[in-house]
Amino acid sequence: MILLTGGLGYIGSHTAVELIEAGYDVIILDNLSNSKIEVLDSLKQITGKKIPFVKGDCQNEALVEEIFTNNKIDAVVHFAGFKAVGESVKKPIEYYDNNINSTLALLRVMKKFGCKNFVFSSSATVYGRAETMPIYEDFPTSATNPYGRTKLFIEEILKDLYVADNTLNIAILRYFNPIGAHKSGLIGEDPNGIPNNLMPYITKVATGKLEKLSVYGNDYPTRDGTGIRDYIHVCDLAKGHVLALKKLESNSGLVTYNLGTGTGYSVLEIVNAFNQVCGNKVKYEFAPRRPGDIDVCYASPEKAQKELGFKATHSLRDMCETSFNFEQKHTKN
Ligand code: NAD
Ligand code: UD1
Repeated sequence: MILLTGGLGYIGSHTAVELIEAGYDVIILDNLSNSKIEVLDSLKQITGKKIPFVKGDCQNEALVEEIFTNNKIDAVVHFAGFKAVGESVKKPIEYYDNNINSTLALLRVMKKFGCKNFVFSSSATVYGRAETMPIYEDFPTSATNPYGRTKLFIEEILKDLYVADNTLNIAILRYFNPIGAHKSGLIGEDPNGIPNNLMPYITKVATGKLEKLSVYGNDYPTRDGTGIRDYIHVCDLAKGHVLALKKLESNSGLVTYNLGTGTGYSVLEIVNAFNQVCGNKVKYEFAPRRPGDIDVCYASPEKAQKELGFKATHSLRDMCETSFNFEQKHTKN
């Protein structure tokens, strides 16, 4: 059985679907701080399975121990954490506390129960401002905000842990920019309040909940002046976790992989692709650069392809269509 912490969130819920479809049993621990309990019903509708769920905090070690006592947990996929960059600058203590202490609590319980397999949700943010593109896993790491630093610190903690016990199997997965939603439209990205990220903002403009998109910067040294990112369909990303777990099963030790497509799209390319899908509903204006943003960021997916057999297959159109579909279904609720 695989324990998914934060498994009702955006990436965790899509990963639950992929794991179940690949034949794994999963149990979810989530404190609902950034997700809704309805996701559990949606997962049942999609998979036909009632997924065991525990409402609670990863930092509650007694609760996590109870989960390990009542279930044979073979591996933990650790999604739980806070993830908003801007908020992390305003609330550093909350970010360090939740992200780092949750991880330490889990690792302590895993040690106690002899559970050796751990998959960690890291981020391309750990590369800071990379000097050349594409980004390879051995590039230097750095962070520019508390959120990014929690990811970096946890990666370091995991490396130290592996030095202390090399019978552990740990996969550090550095996600690029996940967008899109499950084709059913039942699960997707559902941020609280006004979205900070590009795709959830676009979908809210397309459905009339927000007036227009501000495109942050049109003076970057890129083909159209707007920022370039490696957008990856969340279902492709989710499959990467299934492959990472299979890799751990072969006693991999500590491994680190980029999960991206290797292709960068600009903000305007995303807006144009989305407008083709929704019938030109996304109005935008140019605005100043967003502080802390970089011009270009895209992965080399070669290592994950070679060692995991990972390859993103969903098109940009599919990413836009499924994002729009999820938002539309949501609007009706
Ligand atoms: P999300 O907020 O949708 O999901 C995280 C889930 O964890 C939520 O359901 C939340 O309720 C839960 N949670 C938070 N703290 C918890 C705690 N202490 N105990 C139990 N549950 C807790 O975020 P997501 O987009 O699905 O991201 C998942 C992971 O991937 C996060 O660690 C995030 O930092 C990382 N990541 C996300 C992105 C992205 O673009 N979405 C990019 C890179 C890395
Ligand atoms: C951001 C975080 C990153 C985190 C990732 C996923 C920052 C600086 N980086 O990445 O650490 O891992 O989210 O949570 O916050 N854009 C607009 N208008 C908008 C929103 C975005 O033009 O309203 C542009 C941005 O300038 C950028 C691109 O769209 O060029 C993507 O932005 P976003 O979706 O926020 O992701 P990142 O900044 O890449």
